[in-house]
Amino acid sequence: MRDLLAALDALRERLTEIPQADERRLQQLRTELLGRKAGALTEILKALPTIDAETRKTVGAAANALKRDLEAAIAAREGALKRGAAQPGEGVDLTMPARPEWRGGLHLVTQVVDEICGIFRELGFTRAVGPEAETERNNFYALNFPKDHPALDAQDSFYLGGDVVLRTHTSPVQIRTLEAYPPPVRVVIPGRCYRRDPFDASHSPVFEQIEGLAVDEGISFVDLKATLATFARRIFSRETRVRFRPSYFPFTEPSAEMDVECQLCHGGGCPACKGTGWMEILGSGMVHPRVLVNGGVDPERYTGFAWGMGPHRIALLRYGVPDIRLFYEGDMRFLTQFGPGGQADA
Ligand code: DAH
Repeated sequence: MRDLLAALDALRERLTEIPQADERRLQQLRTELLGRKAGALTEILKALPTIDAETRKTVGAAANALKRDLEAAIAAREGALKRGAAQPGEGVDLTMPARPEWRGGLHLVTQVVDEICGIFRELGFTRAVGPEAETERNNFYALNFPKDHPALDAQDSFYLGGDVVLRTHTSPVQIRTLEAYPPPVRVVIPGRCYRRDPFDASHSPVFEQIEGLAVDEGISFVDLKATLATFARRIFSRETRVRFRPSYFPFTEPSAEMDVECQLCHGGGCPACKGTGWMEILGSGMVHPRVLVNGGVDPERYTGFAWGMGPHRIALLRYGVPDIRLFYEGDMRFLTQFGPGGQADA
């Protein structure tokens, strides 16, 4: 009998939990204490028939009193919770301006990358990608870089250990493409590249490039010029003039850089183009026969052209953005000027 009375006392203590319970907890307590199947009080009541009649009276009375108290406390708490709950619309100021909705958008550079790839798609180029962590072989040697080329220096590139480097350009994907697909091949390859450059108005240690590669029978420099000039007129304007200047890259021969008429002064000469009237937008050339061989392609049968350009720079020229860092800083006042993004008008 002692045990049963002690158990009832212990249960009575739990009355204090009820006034603090929230709705969920109140349901739990109801089952835990009064539940028909395994409630604590029910267990005690179940034990009553096993004890002598005298004791049964005392314990039974105490148990029934506790049951009433528990039920009353639970009912009181239930009422309090109901009264406390806000009515629909209660406490809401319907005249308050709506919270503006957030809308995602594509970064300007992403938009320009997509647009460039779209132009080349119309010219028959497929979009391809490659990894940002590259082997030295694909990033340099297979592209005909000599072992002592300055780009290989730890001052200029980020090495990840062993012979793995964060690619310094998208050109290694030329090798991967040639190894994976036999000609004819026409691909554009956008992707991120890394160099140990300062972060200033015109440089960033991480930047975007778009590579292009066309390999087929009978491809000549005429195809290169026509393709890239068409591209320039599409991305800038139909009247945009272009010029090719001889240049040097280990992986092309001959090599050329393409300039477009300065988009600010249209050829007149201004500070942005350093008075020349031209702006360089890409490097290009006829794929070096050794690169074809390294990609498993027969240079006697096939020729090709390739190019590489920086979409940041093209976005910069097209929209007159004065500082490349604006593309990296995530300032919504800048980013939302280029299409949806951030907060829509309330
Ligand atoms: N990979 C060169 C760079 O990062 C750009 C380049 C120039 C790519 C000429 C080419 C090319 O495919 O033919 O500066």
